[in-house]
Parts: sequence; structure tokens; C-alpha cells
Amino acid sequence: MEHVLLVGEENTYLRRRGERVELQEGVLDADALDAGYGETVETHIGETFAVVKPDLNDLFERGLEQRTQTVSHKDAGYVVSRTGIGADSTVAEAGTGSGFLTLVFARVAGEVRSYEVREDHLESARRNVEKVGAENVTLEQRDVKEDGFEGENDLVFLDMKHPEEALENAAEATVPGGYVVCYCPVFEQVRDCVEVFDDAGLSHTETVETSRREWRVFPARPEPQTVPHTAFLTFGRRI
Ligand SMILES: C[S@@+](CC[C@H](N)C(=O)[O-])C[C@H]1O[C@@H](n2cnc3c(N)ncnc32)[C@H](O)[C@@H]1O
Repeated sequence: MEHVLLVGEENTYLRRRGERVELQEGVLDADALDAGYGETVETHIGETFAVVKPDLNDLFERGLEQRTQTVSHKDAGYVVSRTGIGADSTVAEAGTGSGFLTLVFARVAGEVRSYEVREDHLESARRNVEKVGAENVTLEQRDVKEDGFEGENDLVFLDMKHPEEALENAAEATVPGGYVVCYCPVFEQVRDCVEVFDDAGLSHTETVETSRREWRVFPARPEPQTVPHTAFLTFGRRI
């Protein structure tokens, strides 16, 4: 069932169409949520809400489970753009975690294969993927250090402890010309990965840290709470 975002003066809610909705601001009948995007609905006590289309981030913030640290927008966006993946690409990743990056990849790539060693994380990510209705995602419980990745992928993304121990398997499952990207919160992990690149058949393209600074508009100045360090992104290209 499709989700809608209800935007009120004070609060915003994510709900499914066809549900009777009880809000802090009163009750909405189930058929009120049949309203088209851009229409306004009114609760039984006269509070109004605009009905708008939720995006993936609305779903993540308000409707999905988040059990693990997720990859940030600034890093996810850079990986997508830098590796040039698109509708004709196949992407593999480990670990799935909460499935945030899985779902970002699913919006861009043709097919996403995601591997997770922990059953509880995998089941939580499975519920998230089902709620979003991403049909191009395959989820599997697997330790990629032991059992590697399926297929020949345009991108293999590693966000897991000791990514260097999965690098050979990742490179083997990457098409020549494709990328293996390691997401490493600490710099020592970057070194551990790059040391293995040669033996794995990867050429070290770059290691970057992306940054994002949000600005207040009136008065103009940077917001005090800028996002701190997230992780280093290390790109290896299979030649
Ligand atoms: C930080 S989370 C990934 C978050 C995910 N990238 C996201 O944006 O939602 C790291 C995950 O890697 C999984 N993991 C660790 N070692 C693994 C391995 N050898 N094979 C597969 N998954 C592994 C962990 O269980 C954990 O769920």
C-alpha cells in the first residue's frame, strides 16, 4: 500500500493510504488518505494537512527500521556519481546493515545484490526493502570474507569491519573496469585496504573524505552543527 506524507503546521506524519489515521491533531478517515498529492485533508477537529509524496528519506526517517549506522548522503551521492553507475549496472555490497545504501543503489542501478552476515540485521533490512517495494534487490545472509559475492558487478561496496579481508573476493566479483569501494571510518583501515589492492588486481584510484556544510540563510552563516567526519572512501578499479 502506497505511503503518503501528511504535512501539518506543527507536525509531519508518514502514513499508508487506506488506513484510519489517529494523529495528535485529531482523526482522519481512511478515505481521506485517498486524496491526491497536493490536496489538503482535515481532521475531525478541523486541523489541516497537505498530502504530499514521500521520498526515500521520509521513509527512512519516519517509517523504516534503523539498527546500524547508515552511509551518509554526502558519501552515498559521491559513490554513485564517481563510479558512474546507472540503470544498466549491477551493484553488490556488504554488509547490508539497515539497507539504507541498498535502497539508494536500488533507485539508481538495475540490480542490487546485498549480503549481510547477521540474521537480525538482514531480516530488518528485508522488512525495509519490502516496505519501499524495491524489486531489484536480492538480500542474502552470507559472510563475504568466506563465501564472496555472486556475479560480475560494476561496483562492489564494502561497509563492514575489516574490509581488507573481503577485498580479493570483491575484486573477483567485479567486471574489469568496475570499482570496489571501501568505506572506512578510520585511516588505518584505508592503509590496510590499499596494501591489499595490488594482490587483488585493483588499481588505487583515490581515497577521499567528502564534506558538507549547511548554511542558515537569514542571517547568512554556517549552521553550527556541521556533520562531523563520517568515513574515508577508497576506490579501487579492476583493470
Ligand atoms: C554499518 S553496517 C552497514 C550499513 C549500510 N551500509 C547502510 O547504509 O545501511 C555494517 C554491516 O556489515 C555487516 N557485516 C560485518 N561483517 C560482514 C561480513 N563478513 N559479511 C557480510 N556482512 C558483514 C554487519 O553485520 C553490519 O550489519
